[in-house]
Amino acid sequence: MSARLAILISGRGSNMEAILNACRAADYPAEPVLVLSDRADAAGLDTARAGGVAAEHIVHTGPKDRAAFEAALTARLKAAQIDLICLAGFMRMLSAAFVEEWRDLIVNIHPSLLPSFKGLDTHRQALEAGVKLHGCTVHYVRAGMDDGPIIGQAAVPVLPDDTEDALAMRVLSAEHRLYPACIRLVVEGRAPVRSNVAALEMAVPAAVPIFMPPA
Ligand code: GRF
Repeated sequence: MSARLAILISGRGSNMEAILNACRAADYPAEPVLVLSDRADAAGLDTARAGGVAAEHIVHTGPKDRAAFEAALTARLKAAQIDLICLAGFMRMLSAAFVEEWRDLIVNIHPSLLPSFKGLDTHRQALEAGVKLHGCTVHYVRAGMDDGPIIGQAAVPVLPDDTEDALAMRVLSAEHRLYPACIRLVVEGRAPVRSNVAALEMAVPAAVPIFMPPA
């Protein structure tokens, strides 16, 4: 059985595109049913439509409008019989009530190795902190910002002359591989949450450390 995905975006949608591409493989256990954006001008809406996926703008006029926005969102998600909501560059906080209603059925990708560098400008934060490994995280969504049980992470080296943009590109290409892999685990029931931790049920072929500097 194929899990029915909704992908929520606010902009470019490159992670959304990576998910759509993964779903084209015959053995992938999920299908993209709906792409929703809080912004009418999100480039990802056109990409989704070009890929044959229904894509809609749900109007959000500001903080006072959150309840109406979430009511519209819920109605749309339920009508489409969505099994899993994937946030992919979706730039709004969801209310505790919404998150609770969809508990363990919302996942997000964040461009840092959580719990380091929550919020915005994560690549700048990483460069300023001087970390030598940076990366991205896919996690179940809780009410707190960038909070929730971690499903998967990918690490990349921070190179001596890195700019924010160079580092962002390196992380982004890791995001595009990590997110579909994590969605697969979730929809196959192989990332159950126990004691607020996602316990992965999978064989790991080789536990190879990543060194920076190389050792
Ligand atoms: C990604 O870096 C994602 O981790 C973050 O916002 C960015 C969205 O990029 N949440 P895109 O819209 O998927 O290209």
